[in-house]
This record gives sequence, structure tokens and C-alpha cells, in this order.
Amino acid sequence: MTKTRLVNIGSLYGITTSNAVKLGGSLAKVDCLTEAYLEFEDGKISGFGPMTDKPNTVCKEHDIEGGIVYPSYVDCHTHLVFAANREDEFVDRIKGLSYQEIANRGGGILNSANKLGSMSEDQLFDEALERLHQLIKMGTGAIEIKSGYGLSLDAELKMLRVIKRIKAVSPIPVKSTFLGAHAYPLEYQDRKNEYIDHIISDMLPAIAESGLADYIDAFCEEGYFSTEETERIVQAAAEHGLPARLHVNQFTSTGGVEMSARNNVISVEHLEVMTEEDIEVLARSNMFGVALPACSFFLQIPYTPARKLIEANVPFVLASDFNPGSSPTGNLSFVMSLACIYMKLLPEEALNALTINAANALGLADEVGSIAVGKRANVVVSKQAKSLNSIPYRFGDDLIDRVYVNGVVA
Ligand code: NIG
Ligand code: FE
Repeated sequence: MTKTRLVNIGSLYGITTSNAVKLGGSLAKVDCLTEAYLEFEDGKISGFGPMTDKPNTVCKEHDIEGGIVYPSYVDCHTHLVFAANREDEFVDRIKGLSYQEIANRGGGILNSANKLGSMSEDQLFDEALERLHQLIKMGTGAIEIKSGYGLSLDAELKMLRVIKRIKAVSPIPVKSTFLGAHAYPLEYQDRKNEYIDHIISDMLPAIAESGLADYIDAFCEEGYFSTEETERIVQAAAEHGLPARLHVNQFTSTGGVEMSARNNVISVEHLEVMTEEDIEVLARSNMFGVALPACSFFLQIPYTPARKLIEANVPFVLASDFNPGSSPTGNLSFVMSLACIYMKLLPEEALNALTINAANALGLADEVGSIAVGKRANVVVSKQAKSLNSIPYRFGDDLIDRVYVNGVVA
């Protein structure tokens, strides 16, 4: 295999000697080497150091011209597989309807489920793969993908098979999540308990048996799955050996954080509406707190109180929530801008939340999330940027000049 060397890197960010989650004050610490080189071999990072120590061995060199290099982002929360955009609902919201009002009249998640039902598995796969390649070019170097627009065993399996095919061809690591409890299908609107029973008795055993899901998820929210219903699903999934990561506290605080802590849930995600008690419970638990600022931006709902979570030493993570209804972007540089502008994160904090901490949230920290020898050579190059600060600052510009995935330009 070929060896590649990036030379004249102005600042090489995200060097780590430990893969540990960065908490509290350490979230603002990004180790950086100036005037550096970085080498890749066989798809892995094989060395780095100051330019003055650059090895003399001959290999393909790429001159970064004083720009910056940092580890690719890890997106731990996406709904990448979907059948169609929901631009019409976007316009309805401009005219004054809320996300919940649109959902209540059969739009929202049910709209997506309807469209998914009539799209072939091949087309779903082709379109999702195309999106994945766009995200990779925008700096995503590992990703989680949920089902949840199927809402029947067959359609959920169809989505999970699509994710499996994506895993098989993806150059970046992919984790899959079963989200059958995303919304109640129309035919269950008057017998919601039966849908929960169906998830527990039919869907979870089949999905566990299929081996298609790494995790399960549920939309724990008023009007969707109550805390008690979500708990039943989480406990049933645990019996099948499937750990949970949950949509919690997006619009209301209903005890989902406390229930998640009690049930060893890996991560609570969204967290736009957090009481002081929720923050305390989260801080005392081992759970990751995942904020999704592009959803807050797009739906104009509150932003996760990130500073409070960081001060409470919560393992803090950022993700895109890429989906057609509440966050139609997977651009994590933009997510970084939103985190800095609206949540008052320092650029270093946002980078750690999107790299090493996110890698930990997906159990991928030995593979991705930082610059370390032996990790995948998944890095972002910006010659235009002379400092990390440029990335969130220039929120509307594409500053990424090239992305390496497994040591190869994507
Ligand atoms: O994370 N809140 C629940 N699920 C998605 C939105 C899904 C949709 O609107 O299609 C979210 O925001
Ligand atoms: Fe989501």
C-alpha cells in the first residue's frame, strides 16, 4: 500500500494520547502541533510530528501550505435513510404551523413513513449512499444511522437492510439503530398500547435475531412514546442484548432522562428542554448528553443548555440529526458554528464534542475521533483556514479543501 505524507500543516489539531471522553474544563483542550507533518500508511495514521523531524523516506507528499488538519467528524445521530424531502412542511412552518401541528394532521414522521413504503429498497439504498458520500466530503468520518420511517416490522427490516448494505460498502464506520418507536402508525392511533406490544413481542425479537441493529432508539416525548412506554421498550430490548440511545426532552421534560439513567441507556439525545433536576440526574449517570443544534435552528426551538451540561461534567457530544423533517443537513461544520454561536461553545469544545467524545458515544474511539498512530486516516484538510476558529466563524462558507478517508482523498 502507498504511503502518503501531508506536509507544511500550519496546525494539526486533535492529537490524543488517550481516547478518554473529555469532560468539563478538558473539553476546551485540543492538543495541537504547529508546522507539522502527518503520515498515512495502509489506511491508518502511521506518524506525525514537527516538520523539522519529517522523515526523508520518499513517498507521495501533499503540501497543506500552512492550513489546518483535524480529525474527521463523527456523527452519532442521523436518520440518513429516507424516501423524500419534506420541503412542503418547511413552507407550512413558514406560514405558521408548528412541527407538532404538522405531525398531528398526518405529516411529519408519518409522511416520511408513507413515502418510504412506496420506495424500493434499491432506490432507498442508492439515495442514502449518495447522501453518505456527500457527508463524507463535508468531513464526516464515522456515522450512526437510524431506521424509524418504516413503523411496521417489514418496513423497519427494509430500512435496516438498507443500512446493512451501506455498512458493507461504506468507507467509514457505520452503526445502525432500530427506531420502531418513532411514531404511532395510523392504524394504531386508537390502540397505541397494541403498537408497543407489537414492538416488544414481534419487532424486537425479529430485529435482534436478524443482527441488523447495533442499538435501539425511541422518541420519548409527549404525544409520542411516554416515559413508561419507552421504559418497557428499553427493558425488552435489553433482554435481547440491544442497548438503547434515546430521543429525549426535545419539546418537554417528562422524566425521560431519569428513566434512561435507571435503565443504563447509553445516551440521551436532543435535550433542548432540561430542568435543573434533569441536568443533575444526567450528571450523576454515565450517559452521554447529545445536543443537536441544527434541529433547534431549523425548528426554532430552544438550544440544549450545553454550558450547564459541560459545567456539570456530562460527557457532551454534538451531532447533526440529519433527517428530512427537523434537520435537513448533515453538515457538521455548520453544527459547529451553531454550537459556538447559540450554545456559547468554544471552537475547541465543539471540535472535541464532534470527534473524540462522539467517537466514544458510538464505541469507536479506538478507530476514529483523533489524530493518533493506528487510527483510521480519516482527516479534514482546510488550506483556507489558518486556525480552527475559522471553521465555525465562516459559517456559510465551505472551507474544507479535501478529506482523507482511510488515507485516500474522498
Ligand atoms: O430527531 N424527534 C424525532 N425524530 C427526528 C425527526 C424526525 C422527522 O421529523 O422526520 C428528530 O428530530
Ligand atoms: Fe433524531
